[in-house]
Amino acid sequence: MMLYQALFRAVFSKMDPERAHHLGFGAIRATAAIPGAAPALRSVLGPRDPALAVKALGLEFPGPFGLAAGFDKNAVGIDGLAALGFAFVEVGTVTGRPQPGNEAPRLFRLTQDRCLINRMGFNNDGADAVADRLARRAEKLRGRRRPDPVIVGVNIGKTKLVPEQEAIADYVHSATALAPYADYLTVNVSSPNTPGLRNLQAVEVLRPLLLAVREAANQAVPDRHVPLLVKIAPDLADEDVTAVADLAVEIGLDGIIATNTTISREGLATPRPEVEARGAGGLSGPVLRPRALEVLRALRTRVGPEMTLIGVGGITTAADAQEFLDAGATLLQGYTGFIYQGPFWARRIHRGLSRGRGRGRGRGLGHEHGHGHGVDQGHQGRGGNDGRGDSTSGASQ
Ligand SMILES: Cc1cc2nc3c(=O)[nH]c(=O)nc-3n(C[C@H](O)[C@H](O)[C@H](O)COP(=O)(O)O)c2cc1C
Repeated sequence: MMLYQALFRAVFSKMDPERAHHLGFGAIRATAAIPGAAPALRSVLGPRDPALAVKALGLEFPGPFGLAAGFDKNAVGIDGLAALGFAFVEVGTVTGRPQPGNEAPRLFRLTQDRCLINRMGFNNDGADAVADRLARRAEKLRGRRRPDPVIVGVNIGKTKLVPEQEAIADYVHSATALAPYADYLTVNVSSPNTPGLRNLQAVEVLRPLLLAVREAANQAVPDRHVPLLVKIAPDLADEDVTAVADLAVEIGLDGIIATNTTISREGLATPRPEVEARGAGGLSGPVLRPRALEVLRALRTRVGPEMTLIGVGGITTAADAQEFLDAGATLLQGYTGFIYQGPFWARRIHRGLSRGRGRGRGRGLGHEHGHGHGVDQGHQGRGGNDGRGDSTSGASQ
């Protein structure tokens, strides 16, 4: 970790952030391309404490902490990322058609706050190309002994050029192409960088969209239930969060991911002119955490104990991760911490969680996750099981 911090200060922090991303990701992919390296690394860096395992969405996650969407938009580095210890990897956002995204520069660091601002605008190869890539990966893995297959979520969004009235068809195209390769599908209606996208969070628009995507996934994959989740913004008003929760329950959605980046610029230590100079985009990192937690608590209260909720937004330490679990998250994700904390970040989070709940209690896969166990780094769990996301129930509906 110290080594990465030194490397970050000396090299990465002086580079254009998008270039640094490509360089770092390239190194991860190159490592994973060495025969045998990815499984070997995963066996060292991956979550191994059975007490951390989570049953959710009908799947068995080896730990609660995964990589959030946006890092591997094109599904080119799943195995390298899993090798670094993420319990699951969400690829995308993938759109119906390929698109270049916004003009660069479009990714900025706020180093003082350990935050990022991005207006990438869903640069990606499009659903058909990503589906081909995932099909080739599946083919390569077929027949191999894989004791610990990586859980892959696929996040889909709207093509910029497609008008809002035709959004459903665009999502349906992506769902049809990608559902066969997805352990779960996420409908992203919350990125701030596609004009009009977040309007799709209004329940009267969201209901037909989610139902159509559900239907498309069922048709594309008749022999398996592909869990469907929706990812929401932290900028929704409280009553809109409640409305999404009610809709999710009403239509039997499998889960909700909270939250995406924010358009707010409140709470930053970076001087305002410096922040404003970066321009528009979604803000991520620690400053997002209080609101992400608030949204998560509101969702858990509303949807009840069963539905899978994935908490994301500003997680940096194991203590942060535990706080999200205590707030009602079934699973967790992070992105910005990866940039500032380096390649051993996921392992550190899982280890910290493990230490906090006392290794060797041996309750194993299937016990209620995240309840009542403190973690190191000063935070204590709040004690007691208040009935969230009971993993013993297997698939959440
Ligand atoms: C550079 C960047 C690109 C992102 N791209 C996507 C994306 O394509 N789709 C998506 O659903 N979320 C995207 N996100 C949001 C993250 O998945 C996550 O919800 C958000 O950053 C909050 O988590 P964090 O504070 O741990 O980064 C992106 C975030 C960043 C920093």
